Amino acid sequence: MQLSTKHLLGIRDLVPNDIQIILDTAAQFKEVLQRPIKKVPSLRDVTIVNLFYENSTRTRISFELAEKRLSADTINFTASGSSVKKGETLLDTVNNILSMKVDLVVMRHSASGAPHFLAKHIPAAIVNAGDGINEHPTQALLDAFSIREKLGTLQGKKIALLGDIMHSRVALSNIYLLKKMGAEVMVAGPPTLIPKYMQQAFDVHVEYDLKTALEWCDVANVLRIQLERQNQVLFSSLREYNLQYGVKRSLLDNLNKEIVIMHPGPINRGVELDSDVADSKQSIILQQVENGVAVRMAVLYLLAGGKTVQN
Ligand code: CP
Repeated sequence: MQLSTKHLLGIRDLVPNDIQIILDTAAQFKEVLQRPIKKVPSLRDVTIVNLFYENSTRTRISFELAEKRLSADTINFTASGSSVKKGETLLDTVNNILSMKVDLVVMRHSASGAPHFLAKHIPAAIVNAGDGINEHPTQALLDAFSIREKLGTLQGKKIALLGDIMHSRVALSNIYLLKKMGAEVMVAGPPTLIPKYMQQAFDVHVEYDLKTALEWCDVANVLRIQLERQNQVLFSSLREYNLQYGVKRSLLDNLNKEIVIMHPGPINRGVELDSDVADSKQSIILQQVENGVAVRMAVLYLLAGGKTVQN
């Protein structure tokens, strides 16, 4: 089993067979993670640096845990508290770390394209853990894994991405992945948060009415309003956003079917998603987080050129 790529910079670069291999390998690692002893020696003697230039809870912990479960040696770098604060460049920082014999770089950065830049200049394999508003490939892979686990397949399923599409790297990676794997995709939210080119560029449905989107879909992946990436006013207030676009119990109860609710986290409770929906049986939000470890184990293992999962 070999991926067609040396790095995981984005889902855009993957072929459907790569996605299939990653999801199938993740299923094997998920089985490993149910055992009393959850650790395998697959990446013994592999050294991985987790390079986080932007805040993270789920992705950083999930990669760290995945690396530990695979017996890799890990180094955790956060920009705050490092020599980045003294003006050291990204390339200098990474070259200094690589001179200590590091094999793989996991990287989150607020600048779109930062991992692609690095991939052109360093010999190590790079995993993009989220770059600006571009892509978040392991999030899309764990979302796909979770949908497949819940519904059996991605093929033909109707997935609605709801909310702040414009600023969401999760949305872009999900669109690439779901289209490659034969799902139908809708983006829904306020017109000011959906880029005008979406329909032509990505062959997705575009909907501005939340109720219509919920009636259409099998799965609603609710996205966080990314206030930190918005430098202009794109909706009137958080309260009004919740009234028009917040996913609420009453809306779901009026559908004549039960849809699956997802969210990549962190949730703005009471804004894009109400608590009685986020914490309900319909929600698979914590299963997404759980599946993230197995998916990231699969990605690291495959990029490191692993041969067997259960050794
Ligand atoms: N989903 C996600 O990327 O969460 P974090 O920002 O906490 O890593």
